[in-house]
Amino acid sequence: MTDLELLARADAIATKAYAPYSRFLVGCAVLTRDGRVVVGVNVENGAYPLGICAEKNGIGTAVTEGYGAGDFEAIAINASPCGGCRQWLDELGFDRVIFRNRGQVVTMTPAELLPESFELAD
Ligand code: THU
Repeated sequence: MTDLELLARADAIATKAYAPYSRFLVGCAVLTRDGRVVVGVNVENGAYPLGICAEKNGIGTAVTEGYGAGDFEAIAINASPCGGCRQWLDELGFDRVIFRNRGQVVTMTPAELLPESFELAD
C-alpha cells in the first residue's frame, strides 16, 4: 500500500461522510503496522459542536478493533487535519500523515504538525 493508494482510500470513503451542515466531506484511511486499512468519515450533528472529525472516527474504529498507540504506520486524509486531530495523531504515534492541502499532497510527521505538543507525561 503506497501513500497515494492510502490517500485514494481516504478520497473514496469521504463520499460516505455525513456533513449536511458544512457540506465538507472528509475521509481518512488509517494504515496499521500489520497492514490493515481502517477508514473513517466526519459525522456532523444539528447540535453543531457534537460533530466528529473523520480522523477521530477512523482512529476510534481502529482502537475498537484492538489497535493502540504505536500500532499505526500512517494516516491519509483528504483535508488538512484540524488542531484537535493533530493532538490525536501525536498521541497515537503515527509515523507519517499524508493529506491534501490547497491542491498539494503533503506528508508530515505528527511532531511537525504539532510542535511542542502537550504530553501527559510532562
Ligand atoms: N473535519 C474533519 O473531519 N477533520 C479535520 O481534521 C478537519 C475538519 C470536518 C469537521 C466538520 O464536519 C467539517 O470537516 C467542517 O469543518
